[in-house]
Amino acid sequence: MSELRFDGQTVVVTGAGGGLGKAYCLFFGSRGANVVVNDLGGSHKGEGTSTRAADVVVEEIRKAGGKAVANYDSVENGEAIIDTAIKNFGRIDILINNAGILRDVSFKNMTDKDWDLINQVHIYGAYKCARAAWPHFRKQKYGRVINTASAAGLFGNFGQANYSAAKLSQVGFTETLAKEGAKYNIIANVIAPIAASRMTATIMPPEILEHFKPEWVVPLVAVLVHSSNTTESGGIFEVGGGSVAKYRWERAKGALLKTDSTLTPQAILAKWNDVQDFSKPSYPNGPADFMALLEDAQKLPANPSAPDLNFNGRVALV
Ligand code: NAI
Repeated sequence: MSELRFDGQTVVVTGAGGGLGKAYCLFFGSRGANVVVNDLGGSHKGEGTSTRAADVVVEEIRKAGGKAVANYDSVENGEAIIDTAIKNFGRIDILINNAGILRDVSFKNMTDKDWDLINQVHIYGAYKCARAAWPHFRKQKYGRVINTASAAGLFGNFGQANYSAAKLSQVGFTETLAKEGAKYNIIANVIAPIAASRMTATIMPPEILEHFKPEWVVPLVAVLVHSSNTTESGGIFEVGGGSVAKYRWERAKGALLKTDSTLTPQAILAKWNDVQDFSKPSYPNGPADFMALLEDAQKLPANPSAPDLNFNGRVALV
């Protein structure tokens, strides 16, 4: 079987001066793509700027015979980044929203600056780049987007209230881009990667990190953004260290209650086991059909109440 190629296509990778972004760029550069290597070149906390980070990657791609240009704008200035692609290569086919910083601090000590900076880079930055690429994607009826979430976003993590909130935003953002893009052959997916980088160097020991090379994240991204992928969109993928797995939402059986004056806190406590009954789960792609549920609920008799229950006593009594 021949290898996946990206000849003639232009890929923009944000935050590509190191870590995962650099690995994506080197790969796409070696597979025929024109690469825009974006990096602001600041510290992992979002301080300072430098052109060096992006330049080094561009040089490496060119030395290996590939085509690449640097862009040093912050992702908050998405138009300038996409413009670099259009001016140099005449098109944009693939956007990989990868740039990121950390401002880890306990929630008690979190400042507005810690919160805002994380939002600016991870949410506003990803939005601005995608927004600037979107008209091109629609016009050419072709586009591929990867957004970057994190396990911290999916599960929460100590010291990362700002980062986890911003990272989960990328799931909803991606789901919507996938829906709105479908008609125009725009495919969007989101990854929660794990990889050795300057970001993880401070939180994981080197002997663990050597098993999590950024290169092990690249092949999944390549598959998702390739033109042969015309169906896998809106997916959430956990990837790293040789493991690739898709995530989805699981819905419990749920409680159905008559919508009248008997729908009280005590009535909900009486049905709490149904609320959290995952013995026969469903895996919805959208919210429950509330009109159908409402119709069923109205057919129910008045809700039984459990006047003696409180939340803690519930388990013993139901
Ligand atoms: P990294 O720190 O090596 O790379 C991030 C790059 O983004 C840096 O080169 C930095 O200069 C650049 N950057 C920061 N702010 C920017 C801005 N405003 N505009 C343009 N560039 C900017 O980190 P790593 O690990 O490669 O992270 C890549 C992405 O993956 C990030 O979004 C991160 O949150 C995410 N991620 C990484 C994980 C890991 O295990 N490495 C785990 C979960 C998520």
